[in-house]
Amino acid sequence: MKRIAVIPGDGIGPEVVREAVRVLRHLQQTKGLELELVDFDWGAEKFLRDGVTLPEGALEMLTAEFDAILAGAFGDPRVPSNKHAEDILLGMRRGLDLYINLRPVRLLHDRLTPLHNRKTTDIDFVVFRENTEGAYVAAGGFLKHGTADEIALQDEVNTRRGVERIIVAAFEYARANGRKRVTMADKSNVQRFGGDLWQRVFKEVGAGYPEIAANHQYVDAMAMYMVQDPSQYDVIVSNNLFGDILTDLGAAIQGGLGLAASGNIHPGKVSLFEPVHGSAPPLAGKGIANPIGSILTLAMMLEYLGFQTLSDEIEAAVRSAISANETTRDLGGQLSTEEAGAAIIARLSRDGTK
Ligand code: NAD
Ligand code: IPM
Ligand code: MN
Repeated sequence: MKRIAVIPGDGIGPEVVREAVRVLRHLQQTKGLELELVDFDWGAEKFLRDGVTLPEGALEMLTAEFDAILAGAFGDPRVPSNKHAEDILLGMRRGLDLYINLRPVRLLHDRLTPLHNRKTTDIDFVVFRENTEGAYVAAGGFLKHGTADEIALQDEVNTRRGVERIIVAAFEYARANGRKRVTMADKSNVQRFGGDLWQRVFKEVGAGYPEIAANHQYVDAMAMYMVQDPSQYDVIVSNNLFGDILTDLGAAIQGGLGLAASGNIHPGKVSLFEPVHGSAPPLAGKGIANPIGSILTLAMMLEYLGFQTLSDEIEAAVRSAISANETTRDLGGQLSTEEAGAAIIARLSRDGTK
């Protein structure tokens, strides 16, 4: 029996995770999926109430007792420092050493992309975002804080091991999934030291995968090409910050943040699955957030846990609901979050009775 920690978090997090859990419960009832879910109330509310972000011992508990974590989003206007999100989300990514942030960019229906004349076959790639170091290490400091001469230092960490393992993961994924090309994005024309390390490691690792084309683009150019010609991408690998930015752009070209799914993965260890979007305060409490990102995130989690068929069925149900325009308003439909979730579950039922 696999055990899943569910952390809905803030804002629209609980609203979209509720729909993913409904899908999960449905699969438990109709397909005999055996999973045990345990809820955790970590987020802004708890932080404001009792000052706790990631509770003590949480990482050890997750490692010892769980197979995967399903999360919503973290971020709340009442916590402008974002301290709880940093402790909980970045705390799990770093503390559980979830070095792969896997973010697929797939157009599920031609009408969803804002790009002219692009079809589902043109937008289908995955981003491997380094997830434990780079600009996210919170290294730096202030000098002469609050004065006119203030200096803020914000460091970035690139380790040989860290760079190598994410690049290896990208090539291994390409090999295992019949992808033909891995493209690395960096800013090595300016960031000479980190960029130089990434360049060297990319060449060395790439040489071990002769059947896979390896090419490089500066990240600013990639942002442009992703709009002009997204069909060139198969697998993209980049650092933590560029990967973050590129995957919001990737979300936009596949139809918006409401659709984008992600996994924070360390193969063989407890891994964390969450939609790419945040807590979207303007949408929270209105019942209009799109649950598809969260439901496709569930599909990624099930695939990770070895339930490939169920994962494929969820994706097929999502595609079908989108084709029928049974979606929330961000995709041009008229449904509430709950109705959009129900539209997907209804299609799973039909599949189940075949
Ligand atoms: P956001 O992703 O929360 O939302 C940006 C916009 O995208 C929304 O206003 C909305 O128009 C659209 N959107 C996002 N999710 C949607 C959905 N499910 N359905 C329909 N539309 C959707 O980004 P933001 O506004 O920059 O950040 C809000 C808060 O979330 C901040 O505190 C930020 O730090 C946090 N955040 C958390 C995560 C995370 O927990 N993984 C990710 C991103 C942002
Ligand atoms: C994401 C988010 C997070 C990040 C924030 C909320 C810390 O934007 O998951 O993409 O920057 O990684
Ligand atoms: Mn982001």
